[in-house]
Amino acid sequence: MQRSSPVLAATVLAASLLSGGASAQNAAPPGAAAQSAPSQGAATQDADPGAIVNALFAAGGNQAKVRGSGAKGVCLKGSFTPSPEASGLSKAPHFTKTVPVTARFSMGGSNPKISDKAKPVTRGFAMRMSDPSGDMVFVVISAPVFSTRTPQQLLDFATVRAPGPDGKPDADKIKAFAAANPETTRQAAWLNARPVPASFAGVDYWGVHAYTLTDAKGAATVARLKWVANAGQLGLTDDELKAKPDSFYADELKERLSKGPASFDLVAMLAETDDPVNDPTVAWPEERKQVKLGTVAIAAIEPDATCDAATFDPVADLPEGVAGPATDPMFAIRSPAYAVSLSRRAN
Ligand code: HEM
Repeated sequence: MQRSSPVLAATVLAASLLSGGASAQNAAPPGAAAQSAPSQGAATQDADPGAIVNALFAAGGNQAKVRGSGAKGVCLKGSFTPSPEASGLSKAPHFTKTVPVTARFSMGGSNPKISDKAKPVTRGFAMRMSDPSGDMVFVVISAPVFSTRTPQQLLDFATVRAPGPDGKPDADKIKAFAAANPETTRQAAWLNARPVPASFAGVDYWGVHAYTLTDAKGAATVARLKWVANAGQLGLTDDELKAKPDSFYADELKERLSKGPASFDLVAMLAETDDPVNDPTVAWPEERKQVKLGTVAIAAIEPDATCDAATFDPVADLPEGVAGPATDPMFAIRSPAYAVSLSRRAN
């Protein structure tokens, strides 16, 4: 689809949206009581998921049959192999043996034609680790923080980025929103301070929520999860970026995977007292104690249809032993929002 540059500009702004301890062995970890169960609750939803999804689509130019975010991406398959330490933190069966993985790398936002060179835009990594007992799904981004703290704030963030009649968002409205909501600027600032990744496999990804891992004896550990690229941080210089076409990630990945798997270490960053468990706009210090939970190895590209048939639901598809935060309002709302997006693109 042909796009005008103002709409592209609006899309890049909108795309920046999803751009994206204590070990508790036998001791109650920070925040554990408040979030020992996954949140399903409508009580935490201070804005309608359908309205948010509509705003995400509008901010990206209202394309048909695409995802509300991560519209441009590559479907993949691989495997997850847990570390020996993983089953000591969580009783999830996925931490006891190698399991198959369906995954998808993507660009933030709802524009399927977004340039792979776009900045500040998060790269996304969705993955389904399969087991006969049920799946374990994570949907994570190339920044340690998400852009908003509450669903209402996300609705407003996306709404001010909708293109007006001239095809451009209102820069004054965006500025005023940022001034009134300074925490919503952290993600873009973080991305702007780093180079554009040269590869979907050459950048780290973060689950921006605080998860509770529970072991077979019931001991809980609160952690944020991070996927560390074994290829390292492959950033493009300004000159390299200029020389790239708008779509290069898919070819780069094909080439990379022809030589061997692209792998990421899944690392749990353990919470310390006072690390917020309810606010994905705040990063935890990187020097938190880290425990490697395993390695995700991406082996090959998979037909789009494999990833398009369903959504990666990071709320509903968690096993016993891994729970999302009950007190983070951005977590529970992801499930109904992703379902609205799926029904819109499937119909
Ligand atoms: C808070 C942390 C969040 C992160 C890290 C995140 C990240 C992502 C990523 C990487 C994708 C692409 C998935 C794929 O490749 O299939 C995605 C999809 C999507 N996200 Fe999020 N997201 C977050 C929160 C939200 C919230 C709060 C909403 C709305 C309330 C939302 C709305 C969507 C929608 C509608 C899709 C498309 C789902 C589909 O059609 O399958 N996201 N998100």
